[in-house]
Amino acid sequence: MNDKATIKLNGREYEFSPGETVLDVAARHDIYIPTLCHDPRLDPVGACRTCLVEIDGWGRLAPACATPAAAGMEILSENERIDRHRKTLLALYMTDHPSDLERAERGAPNELLQMAGDYQAPLDWGYMESKRPAQPDDRNPYVLFDPDLCILCGRCVRYCDEIEGVTAITLAGRASETTISTVDGLSLMDTSCELCGGCIDVCPTGAMGEKMPLLRGENHRRTVQLPAWAADRLVACRWTGRPGVALPGENQR
Ligand code: SF4
Ligand code: FES
Repeated sequence: MNDKATIKLNGREYEFSPGETVLDVAARHDIYIPTLCHDPRLDPVGACRTCLVEIDGWGRLAPACATPAAAGMEILSENERIDRHRKTLLALYMTDHPSDLERAERGAPNELLQMAGDYQAPLDWGYMESKRPAQPDDRNPYVLFDPDLCILCGRCVRYCDEIEGVTAITLAGRASETTISTVDGLSLMDTSCELCGGCIDVCPTGAMGEKMPLLRGENHRRTVQLPAWAADRLVACRWTGRPGVALPGENQR
């Protein structure tokens, strides 16, 4: 007898293991749920609200990334209510986020911008200057923080803390002036930062970028000639949607 616990997701039943979240189960079965603050290496915080799903019997939508799967749960990841929520949320994010590609994709691909386009979020709700302050003393030559592109998802801070164990950066300030900073606003050079670049790598919008190429005005996007075997194994990353190459032996999705 199969006594594994199951949830129902979009009408189909899926088994799950203890500790898995709704997003884990969805990702394992190639069911796309949009995320911005999630990174499978980091503890979930449910900060960005892009992954909200509807759970039968729950009054409010729930973040798939931070909701543990529970036996008998019936979940919808797509319906009119969720679509309305996503459009509204993404439109609100965009009210203080640059939308011109020159500015919004200076460094890495901007996942927020892509998502706003994918979900056809209205982009005509007006624009207001972001109040997030930049680093006052920024003599470090490696990491450039652009507060206008930051969505306060906290991935950089959590990576620095949970993976590097360094805690050089933190969320600082209050309300609309909340930003990413260091203790006392020190330059990264004067903190415990090891200049690993992890904050740049995990940032979904390019708010953390490589300073020298950006200041030189260089475009990070390079055309890479893939070997034949790799061209056949192009896949989209299940977490970010970015293109990548599945290595031999890996599951091609
Ligand atoms: S700098 Fe990037 S990773 Fe850090 S909180 Fe802002 S958007 Fe998120
Ligand atoms: S990905 Fe779930 S709340 Fe951000």
